[in-house]
Amino acid sequence: MRENALLAFPPEAFEEDVVCRSFFGRRQIILNRPAGIQHILIDNPENYRRTPATMRMLRPLLGNGLLLSQGEDWKYQRRTVAPAFASRTMPLLAGHVARAAQATVTKLAGCSAQPADLLTAMQSLALEIAGTSMFSLAMDRYRPELRDLITRYTAGLGRPSLLDFLLPLAIPSPRDLLRRRVRRQWVALFGRIIAERRVKASQAAPRDLFDLLSTARDPETGAPFSPEGLVDQVATLIAAGHETTGVALFWSLWLVAAAPAVQELLAAEVESLDLGPDTASEILPRLVHTRAVVQETLRLYPPAFIIVRQARADDDAGGVRVPAGGMVFISPWVLHRHRRLWSQPEVFDPARFLPGASPPNRFAYLPFGVGPRVCIGAQFALTEATLVLATMIKAFEIERANGEPLMPIGIVTTQPDHPPLFQLRSRH
Ligand code: HEM
Repeated sequence: MRENALLAFPPEAFEEDVVCRSFFGRRQIILNRPAGIQHILIDNPENYRRTPATMRMLRPLLGNGLLLSQGEDWKYQRRTVAPAFASRTMPLLAGHVARAAQATVTKLAGCSAQPADLLTAMQSLALEIAGTSMFSLAMDRYRPELRDLITRYTAGLGRPSLLDFLLPLAIPSPRDLLRRRVRRQWVALFGRIIAERRVKASQAAPRDLFDLLSTARDPETGAPFSPEGLVDQVATLIAAGHETTGVALFWSLWLVAAAPAVQELLAAEVESLDLGPDTASEILPRLVHTRAVVQETLRLYPPAFIIVRQARADDDAGGVRVPAGGMVFISPWVLHRHRRLWSQPEVFDPARFLPGASPPNRFAYLPFGVGPRVCIGAQFALTEATLVLATMIKAFEIERANGEPLMPIGIVTTQPDHPPLFQLRSRH
């Protein structure tokens, strides 16, 4: 579990619709049954909360922002943040994405004689996009400290200990005490970022998410975010947004690098398109094959490999008994590779997502979750991943530099066990 949560799923989870086991006397259910998933995530979500272990692991970075808040507080945060991610802001965000993607391509082209580490490149790009779309600030100054904090945290204190699972949230585990230090460093870092952003004079029209969030008002009460609430919100959106999208981009490049026919299809699709910031959002609907590759990547390597809930009270979820305190695992990693829900689940086949293909079962494909707590950044993430992939393929032929195997590991997100190298050849 600590080293690679993906290995904790037993083989039968990929065949059966429900697998139950017991963990220190508490019932754990791996749930693949569509009716059960619908019940928990859509029909009766009030009966299910995030687990103490999830809260402990993510709270130092995400505080009480949107992802970890619950109940009335969550409702307030969600309706306040939602307008910033509405469809009408996508052209604004797509412009930021296109600019940052172009800068990355230029940087990579400058050293394309050498094999490239595209995991680091995509994580940096995703952070740059999160930073510029959020703050209109280049993240160069903050990137080393921010990435260092995240990397050290996920490799160490971010991993759960047994006590994280067993102790009630009100009692700090020994790791919680150490995590408080990380929390202080993280809040201080975001305090500095927000302070720099605030001294920049605001323009009349909102130009980034920070403008939208700092002027956001609860539609019901008119209340703005408190200063601490704003830090948590910004930290949540940056951390949840860049870690996931960066790794999704990496996996898409890893997959197309070994599928020359798919790559040629994408190259033909983007060849005559202008992917610059002014036209980026208009040409998105034409990136049909590129988007299908992104969706297929999110199937094979869903960055959020598991959605965990704990029942508050006894329940019946589509015929599955869930006792109070029981844990339910709804795992995109398992669902997306389930042998009864997909034909040839291990095969990379973007055609599954082309227009005209029969759509997957609504609950068999959940890269962004579903229901009231569905990912608020889903549309942004799809826009970003599609545009960046298109920009990369337009610039380069991409190959894996060698045949060494790569192991996906689940620690917070689905990551490769090491950063593999790629060979890039300019198409121009
Ligand atoms: C490929 C990229 C992404 C993936 C795979 C992903 C996945 C997910 C999933 C599965 C959830 C639901 C968790 C649950 O129900 O427990 C979620 C929630 C969330 N995501 Fe994403 N996400 C991505 C990108 C983003 C981006 C770009 C942002 C923000 C800029 C973002 C912000 C959030 C937030 C704030 C929540 C919590 C929503 C709530 O609880 O109301 N995510 N994400």
